[in-house]
Amino acid sequence: MGMVDIGEFALSDREFTRIRQRVYKIAGISLSDAKRTLVVSRLSKIVRALGLPGFDAYIDFLDHGGSPADDQAFVNALTTNLTRFFREDHHFDHLRTHVGELIARPQRVGKGGRPRLRIWSAGCSTGQEPYTIALALLAAFPDLGRWDFRILATDIDSSVIARAAEGIYPAGELNGLSAQRQALFERGPRGEVRIPSAAREVITFNLLNLMAPWPFKGPFDAVFCRNVAIYFDKPTQGRLFDRLGEVLAPDGFLYIGHSENLQAVSKGFKLVGKTVYQRKSITTARDAA
Ligand SMILES: C[S@@+](CC[C@H](N)C(=O)[O-])C[C@H]1O[C@@H](n2cnc3c(N)ncnc32)[C@H](O)[C@@H]1O
Repeated sequence: MGMVDIGEFALSDREFTRIRQRVYKIAGISLSDAKRTLVVSRLSKIVRALGLPGFDAYIDFLDHGGSPADDQAFVNALTTNLTRFFREDHHFDHLRTHVGELIARPQRVGKGGRPRLRIWSAGCSTGQEPYTIALALLAAFPDLGRWDFRILATDIDSSVIARAAEGIYPAGELNGLSAQRQALFERGPRGEVRIPSAAREVITFNLLNLMAPWPFKGPFDAVFCRNVAIYFDKPTQGRLFDRLGEVLAPDGFLYIGHSENLQAVSKGFKLVGKTVYQRKSITTARDAA
């Protein structure tokens, strides 16, 4: 395809291949040719800040002298973090209407006889997804504060996790939401959107690469992994969805993005709604085959 030169540095085919291989190996992200311009604009800033002559020198530096912080900056620059509050809102309606059956199961009674509910937002970006889960459930279940309820929210990108943990968003962030939904949020002195403490308190934000080993076993009653697997190739998606099945409780729900599907890996799941899957409680001989 030749050279792309819209930033300070030109990107050769060879350099693009090296960058692609590197981000695939670390994060499972498959960069298409269409991402060349984005790669140049995002990585040029880093190359310039390091005082390096170009992308080849940058990849050499990452391979031989770079620190974990340099690797993190490389990954942060190549993730796509688009998200919003109440995105694909049918998922939150589905969760709300099924929470009753999730907590009714005997094995979900937690400490002190309180209902136990565990949800994972995997690839949470700047936090709108886990905050929406918390706000929607707090509004629907007034006694939720007394439950043993936790949301784990993780992402590979350290900059989005830091922003998510702050829980403060620009004033326009709620544009397009109904007045009823907007009323779930608080406003700061300059009109900025603030997440109420009741929602912040139930969420733990952590840095986590979905391609790496996970430091927990679950079980989660619901996993949101939406608009994350679109960046992965089919084999990587297959392995990820299999692993998500392993940390989901029997009958737990997996919510995926509007353009995604489980296809061949859906053996352990059944489709129960629009991009909503439920982990089968009993594996039949046919499933296992
Ligand atoms: C488009 S956002 C989706 C955010 C949210 N789930 C939603 O649907 O609105 C995709 C997120 O996946 C994260 N991501 C990509 N590869 C990842 C990986 N290997 N491990 C963890 N997170 C990853 C990105 O950093 C990004 O924040």
